[in-house]
Amino acid sequence: MNDMVMKMESEHWFTVGRLSEIPRRGARQIILPRGPIAVFRTQNDKVYAIDDKCPHKGGPLSQGIVHDGSVTCPLHNWVIDLQSGSAMGTDQGCVRTYAVRTDENGLVSVSLAAPSE
Ligand code: FES
Repeated sequence: MNDMVMKMESEHWFTVGRLSEIPRRGARQIILPRGPIAVFRTQNDKVYAIDDKCPHKGGPLSQGIVHDGSVTCPLHNWVIDLQSGSAMGTDQGCVRTYAVRTDENGLVSVSLAAPSE
């Protein structure tokens, strides 16, 4: 891999902090110029990042209850799938998702370049 490609890859990763700083079944909010992003840690240490704005009426998803791979919005209880960003059940809506990686030192980074798959 040449230097240019490596530089571009590193530039779009934003380091959030250590995995241990995100509570299990909780979230950490990061504020970016494009708006807040919620970084969630599940009970089994999976990490997801989505826009911190509920697709219903903009509630702060980072203050919701995390269960399995989803979060329940604190305002009106919509349930959002953390992998896809989609509302579950009969509710309709979607938030943007971001790729997340955790390195060997436990540092969590979020990709601001492209939605996660
Ligand atoms: S704002 Fe999230 S459920 Fe209404």
